[in-house]
Amino acid sequence: MIHFGLIGRSLSHSFSKNFFTAKFEAEQRAADYSLIEVENIHTINNVIALNSLSGFNVTIPYKENIIPYLDELTDEAKAVGAVNCVALRDGKTIGHNTDIRGIEASLGWLDIAEGTKALILGSGGASKAVQYVLRNMGADYKIVSRDASRGDITYEQLTTDIIKAHHLIINTTPVGMSPNVDEAPAIDYSALDESHRLFDLVYNPTTTEFLRRGEERGAQTMGGIMMLQTQAIASWHFWQKELDIK
Ligand SMILES: NC(=O)c1ccc[n+]([C@@H]2O[C@H](COP(=O)([O-])OP(=O)(O)OC[C@H]3O[C@@H](n4cnc5c(N)ncnc54)[C@H](OP(=O)(O)O)[C@@H]3O)[C@@H](O)[C@H]2O)c1
Repeated sequence: MIHFGLIGRSLSHSFSKNFFTAKFEAEQRAADYSLIEVENIHTINNVIALNSLSGFNVTIPYKENIIPYLDELTDEAKAVGAVNCVALRDGKTIGHNTDIRGIEASLGWLDIAEGTKALILGSGGASKAVQYVLRNMGADYKIVSRDASRGDITYEQLTTDIIKAHHLIINTTPVGMSPNVDEAPAIDYSALDESHRLFDLVYNPTTTEFLRRGEERGAQTMGGIMMLQTQAIASWHFWQKELDIK
């Protein structure tokens, strides 16, 4: 039996466990996937040994602070500075970032014109992966943060004119996530029109208040489910490659 799992905190509602359990059953694999609550990341090597893990996903709050405990990083994980997927090969931990594949796939479904400028709401781990993808696409972007020291502009500085000049807006904050489904990032929604594209990384609910307000103004939208599914599939491909699983 090969053991996989998700490492994080407050994991009671996990897409990944359902996804991998169903996948392993359907493919009749001798593998399982557990939710592993970790109180302090410095215990990670004990957690790996105790659970006999061959691979695992990493979620909030450990995507960035797990890095010093890993033996190797892929170039993409290094460039982003965050890891959401780890494989154990010959006793060595290799960290990877499969959120990148999820972001690329989600943006790929939006009809984004050449030269579109973007606003990224939030400056945390997922924001860093979005920044990496936009840099690779050659897209110009600004980071909007509650704190002037963490982004390019604050929500107070985000004028209607700036929103009108940036046709891709990506929410990487948890604002609007269940149970706070009536909340939306503090931007002027009246500045949006049908030339805007909104991508919300939040996947629960499937249509967030942020996306609903955009759709009301004619904007094209993408929720977080596509990213969630794509990063899980990309994690499996990484484990298959690193662990030589057929
Ligand atoms: N769909 C997917 O597959 C997927 C994958 C990864 C993450 N996510 C979702 O993306 C969101 C962020 O995840 P993360 O790992 O990047 O979390 P994180 O590292 O905690 O970053 C979230 C950022 O959002 C901003 N923020 C936090 N609370 C806020 C509030 N009350 N109001 C306004 N801004 C706030 C902060 O930026 P500032 O301090 O700069 O304002 C913070 O750095 C979560 O909802 C997560 O579920 C989805």
